[in-house]
Amino acid sequence: MSLNITIVGAVDRQLEELLRGQGVRIKSLAVADLLALAQPSAAQPDVVILDLRETAALPPTLTTLKRQHPTTGVVIVASRMDPVLMLEAMRAGVNEWVADPITAAELNAAIERVGSSRVASKQGQIVAFVGAKGGVGTTTIAVNVASALAQAVDDERTLLMDFHLSYGDAAVFLGAEPRFSVADAMENTHRLDEAFFESLVVQSKSTGVHLLASAERAVGAVDLRRIATLLTFASSHYRYTFLDVPRSEAAVLDSLEGVASILIVANQELATVRNAGRIAAALRQRYGKDRVKIVVSRYDKQAEINTEDIARVVGSPVKYTVPSDYRAALTSLNKGRPLALDKDSRLAPAFQSMAFDLAGIRVEKPVEKERGGGLFGFRRK
Ligand SMILES: Nc1ncnc2c1ncn2[C@@H]1O[C@H](COP(=O)(O)OP(=O)(O)OP(=O)(O)O)[C@@H](O)[C@H]1O
Ligand SMILES: [Mg+2]
Repeated sequence: MSLNITIVGAVDRQLEELLRGQGVRIKSLAVADLLALAQPSAAQPDVVILDLRETAALPPTLTTLKRQHPTTGVVIVASRMDPVLMLEAMRAGVNEWVADPITAAELNAAIERVGSSRVASKQGQIVAFVGAKGGVGTTTIAVNVASALAQAVDDERTLLMDFHLSYGDAAVFLGAEPRFSVADAMENTHRLDEAFFESLVVQSKSTGVHLLASAERAVGAVDLRRIATLLTFASSHYRYTFLDVPRSEAAVLDSLEGVASILIVANQELATVRNAGRIAAALRQRYGKDRVKIVVSRYDKQAEINTEDIARVVGSPVKYTVPSDYRAALTSLNKGRPLALDKDSRLAPAFQSMAFDLAGIRVEKPVEKERGGGLFGFRRK
């Protein structure tokens, strides 16, 4: 997995140029934005490079950042070795200091020291969505939860795999035009590496989600080991992987060992709830009860069957509900623009809170950015 580096307070483009062409992803932020990055819910880069070449003081927010995110690596670039400032930096938890004249070798060595432990400890999380019945809204939820998360965290880290091996429609929901598919990945598991995988996925322009799409051709039976290899690869290269799994694809349902949560998508119709019960029982037996949860799609508070009834019949808790808005869902589908992007949509907050909860991101209260809008687009009421 290549490193994500954020350069804070760059005085010129020298640092960026020194790092260019080394397979790292670089972003730039102003010093004032360090406060937003220090918030508990802010997605972290692997390494922050703090450019102090034109100041003689540490930003006070550095201590906050290291306190909130002790695993974020920080490298300070300064015009000279200043013992007083270096001591202050060490107290803030920063031990890497590179002084002028800055060389690529020195900078890289410092980045490697602070970044490698973080990368090594990373193991992505996989969440599978399985519809209890056709048409309940499984793809809508998988696409929108992935989109909400990609918007909030670094979008290079969110993958959606359409496990309808043939003729699935996640690409349509994302407005993406994939050239390759999950079938191509499965047929070439012996070649799986970062470059090959990147050539198979398509990145959605509107959301940043990486999509491994369904094939536009019939695909024969798949080998369970190949599915497992693909999932292992995904979790070591993406922080979050979402799977849109058809309930008819037994081989996929049999390969979910590495998956953290299996969400069965149901609605408030008796037939769907019964199906959800059957699927949940089989999945609980195989993967344990804690991983299996229910999402109720197109939730209606007034409906005869409520969430307690569903939990009782299915035997697993209703963890999330998504309200119903058919017109908005249809418009978004036809535009290929996920609802999670539409701040005014009634459905967007449901997708966002589901995404954050699944990812373990706590949003204690809306965090205001320096200028106007809040992190993740929240504003104080
Ligand atoms: N929360 C919602 N409110 C209203 N309509 C919705 C909602 N979610 C999905 N829909 C609509 O329901 C239809 C089916 O949605 P979707 O394709 O996501 O279901 P699915 O379970 O993936 O179907 P399939 O079994 O074909 O894969 C679509 O027209 C979609 O716009
Ligand atoms: Mg679907």
